[in-house]
Parts: sequence; structure tokens; C-alpha cells
Amino acid sequence: MKKNSTLLVTGGAGFIGANFVHYWLNNYPDTKIINLDSLTYAGNLTSLTDISSNPNYTFIEGNITNKELVNKIMDDVDIVVHFAAESHVDRSILNPEIFLETNVMGTHVLLESAVRNKIERFHHISTDEVFGTLSLEDLNSKFSENTPYDPRSPYSASKAASDHLVRAYGETYNLKYSITNCSNNYGEFQHPEKLIPLTITNLMEDLEIPVYGDGMQVRDWLYVQDHCKAIDMVLNSENTDKTFVVGGLNEDIPNIEIIKMIINLMGKSENLIKFVKDRAGHDKRYSVDWSNIKEKLNWTPSVTFEEGLQKTIDWYKNNQSWWKPLKNDSKDFFLKNYQGR
Ligand code: NAD
Ligand code: TYD
Repeated sequence: MKKNSTLLVTGGAGFIGANFVHYWLNNYPDTKIINLDSLTYAGNLTSLTDISSNPNYTFIEGNITNKELVNKIMDDVDIVVHFAAESHVDRSILNPEIFLETNVMGTHVLLESAVRNKIERFHHISTDEVFGTLSLEDLNSKFSENTPYDPRSPYSASKAASDHLVRAYGETYNLKYSITNCSNNYGEFQHPEKLIPLTITNLMEDLEIPVYGDGMQVRDWLYVQDHCKAIDMVLNSENTDKTFVVGGLNEDIPNIEIIKMIINLMGKSENLIKFVKDRAGHDKRYSVDWSNIKEKLNWTPSVTFEEGLQKTIDWYKNNQSWWKPLKNDSKDFFLKNYQGR
């Protein structure tokens, strides 16, 4: 990577994107970032107020499906880091179409433009959910770079399609690309519709915590700043591997245990736990074997899960004006998603 590269970050007003923009400008003050984001319900410019006047940062409100706009922007770009997506499984069950438009067609528009403009590197942010579900019975099974794709929700199917397109553009048009398939991120600036911030903010408001099914489902959890570091290492590595899986844990922690950990750390009561009807097609278990990125790039998580959770709880306590309006704006979704469960 050149010292004064220009990065196009898509979806930089979302959870991971905003963390990445902060991370990158802190660590590479000589580079430029263009943030292209259409500001859906998940895009939030207040996550970026502190850097809005940084001369190396430009925000463009626009859609990644807009070919003309994307081509115009790509002209000045060296590296694309592609976060923009519809990202919530529950929303993909209620309204799959927008997931295909953004995650598949939007990625396609970016790829076409990247090839046309001879972009130096296209880095695609993907998910471990493309691999489907692991069994709760076989606790030794884990996702790795070699796991076959087997997506089971409209969200993961659309992300799997986008991964295939990125690889196809690499093979067919010689696009230089890399992909990271990471596990569930948590940390600062995450929309309160996702499990960890939903639990923290509901506890702060003395609202019930909806637990899908029996709460025994398992995710691998990755602190968002550790994810940003992993992307940085992949972008700057001379390693020829195109795909890395990234995770944060070494052991299984079921959802219900995570909720109890948060309740404990916040000194609240377990009486607020409410078991509700399960999610349709709910993937039972995700677990990531991240030994490859550890061995090849020397990446490891910088915080334990407890430390990451405590940082996250503190952040939500100190930034109520950030998340309260988002909960209010998403009232219709919350009603639709949780009604009758
Ligand atoms: P997010 O939903 O918080 O943010 C998505 C951002 O993309 C928002 O700012 C939104 O406005 C923008 N966006 C959506 N559609 C757009 C479009 N058509 N054009 C331009 N901008 C658009 O998502 P996130 O949690 O930050 O996830 C970022 C990426 O990481 C996604 O690709 C997601 O699939 C992937 N991922 C997320 C997680 C996680 O735990 N959050 C885990 C694995 C992978
Ligand atoms: P989520 O944060 O939506 O991420 P993903 O579905 O992409 O893994 O959910 C994490 C886990 O928490 C998942 O197993 C579903 C479960 N969950 C609940 O039990 N209750 C909830 O209200 C939500 C949002 C999620």
C-alpha cells in the first residue's frame, strides 16, 4: 500500500465501517478516505462527527447500486474496502429483496467499476454466516477458510453471492481482491437491534430481553476494533492468501450465557429475561477457527470477551444520545419483529 493511498470505504457510516474509518485515520494519517454511504436506517453520521472536518476524509451520500456515481468516485481511488450491506438477519426474513439489491447488485456495481478503473485492491467484508450452521452436538467442528458455503438465511445467501462474485471477478478479470469472513462483531457504534447492544440498552431502560428459542445458540464474538486491526493486517500483508476467516473466541458461549454475563456486569436482574418464539431457520452454532490468520499474519484479539463486553457496556452508558434516537426510529421494525413471539 502506498503511503498516500486513497481508500473508498463503502458503508462507513455503519457500525464496523465507522469504527474502521476512525481506526484508519488514527493509524494512517497520510492516507485519504472517501466514505460512500446511502444512510439507511443503519447509517449514522453522528458516529463520525469528530472526524467530519478532517481534510483527509470525504463523505459522499450515495448508493453503491448507482453505477454513474460509483464510476465517478472510483476514478481517484486506489483501494476499496467494502462494508456497505444490509446486515440484520431478522430484517432479511421480513424483507429479503433489499438484501439482494444492496448485497448482490451493489457489490456487482463496485466490482465492475473496480475492474474498469484498475483498482489496486478490492477488500470485501463478509461473514462466517455464509458457511451455514454447525451442530451443537459436535463441539470440535469449526468454520475455516476451507469450509464449503451453505448459507441458510436471505442475509447469508446474499453475502455468499457477493463473495462468489468477488472471486469470479478475481479469476475472470484479474481483479486483485481479498475477503475476510468474520464472526459476530460487537463494540462501539452498533445499532441497538443486534443482540449485545439490544441487551445492554434494554437493561438500561428496564425492558425485557427477548431470547429466541431456548437461548442455547452459539456465536463467535469479535471485538470490532480487533476486526479493524485484522483488516489492516490483511490489506498490508504480502501473503498471497485471498481469504481469511476472523473470530474472537476459543470457547462456545451460548446466547443465554452472554445475556447473563451482561446482566451481571451491569448489576441488573435476570427477571428481565424473556424466552420468545425462535427465529425462522435459526442457525444453531457458529465457531471460527482463526488459527490461519494468527499463524500467517500474527493477528490475535487484543481483548478478552469480558474486557470487550465491559468496554461496550461503558460506551453505551456514556453515549445514550447516540442510541436512544435509533431505538425510537426503529419502533416499527421492533414491533414487526417481536410482535406475537
Ligand atoms: P451496518 O448495518 O451497521 O451498516 C451498513 C452500512 O451500509 C450503513 O451505514 C448503511 O447506511 C450502508 N448501506 C446500506 N446499503 C447501502 C447502499 N445500497 N449503498 C450505500 N450504503 C449502504 O453493518 P455492519 O454491522 O457495520 O456490517 C458491515 C459489513 O460487515 C457488512 O458487509 C456485513 O455483512 C459484514 N459483517 C458484519 C458483522 C457484524 O457482526 N456486524 C459480522 C460479519 C460480517
Ligand atoms: P444477532 O445480533 O441478530 O446476530 P446474527 O443473527 O447475525 O448472529 O443475533 C445474535 C444471536 O442472538 C442469534 O443467535 C439470535 C439471537 N437473538 C436473540 O436471542 N434475541 C434477539 O432479540 C436478537 C436480536 C438476537
